[in-house]
Amino acid sequence: MQLKSDFLIIYVFGLATMGLVMGITCVVIPRLWFFLERAYRVFMEYTPIIYQSEDRLSPVSKSRLSLVARKTLVLDMDNTMITSWFIKSGKKPENKPRIAHDFKFYLGAYGATIYVYKRPYLDHFLDRVSKWYDLTVFTSGAEIYASPILDFLDRGRGILKSRLYRQHCIEQFGMWSKSVLQACPDLSNVVLLDNSSKECSSNAGNAILIRSYEVGSRDQALINLLPFLDALRFLKDVRPMLERCTRFKSFAQ
Ligand SMILES: *[C@@H]1O[C@H](CO)[C@@H](O)[C@H](O)[C@H]1NC(C)=O
Ligand SMILES: [Mg+2]
Repeated sequence: MQLKSDFLIIYVFGLATMGLVMGITCVVIPRLWFFLERAYRVFMEYTPIIYQSEDRLSPVSKSRLSLVARKTLVLDMDNTMITSWFIKSGKKPENKPRIAHDFKFYLGAYGATIYVYKRPYLDHFLDRVSKWYDLTVFTSGAEIYASPILDFLDRGRGILKSRLYRQHCIEQFGMWSKSVLQACPDLSNVVLLDNSSKECSSNAGNAILIRSYEVGSRDQALINLLPFLDALRFLKDVRPMLERCTRFKSFAQ
């Protein structure tokens, strides 16, 4: 009799302990996974292209730079700097990327939660180019959708203050189209960075095409552009150079 009740106590305790361990595991592992993934991404984003936080220019470069005007870099948002994912309230998230998002917010007007994924190296890229160029973000997205994202990307640095949205686009063949003239009236001193070949060809001579960012891919497109953008700011007029190294001029004609 004594033996049987001992056995029962051990059995119940065993079950309770197992339940506790499993419960804790279910709570802790997803968090741990989230944390490890972030840490891994920071590690993966180590880059051999390192720009000092201040410009160490030679006297010759400095005087060259003083001869030309400071340029404006017009940045597209979606698929160039970030990719976003909409999930309608009450809907099951379908095909949502499995990597950790960087930012999310609820947009009442769309009845959806928006998950934002930064393109790799974006922070480093913005830090650098904001020292070289005046930045303007030009998105064909609606202001209510884009502005919380841009506030997040800016992180209080005040570098993404100049913004153009859908209402600044021109309607062309039933589609929204951008013109860099909206950002800077002087075409010799403005460069557009966009993933859309349509936008690039309608701004031929002032555009650099970047491939669309796919969430989770090991993308180095932004960091690889730094040396080119660094060189471009020394030119008197960006157009002869950009016409020569992109195919959009011939596209547009
Ligand atoms: C470029 O990004 C836009 C969103 O800004 C997207 O709708 C479009 O499909 C992308 N274009 C290409 C060529 O991938
Ligand atoms: Mg785009």
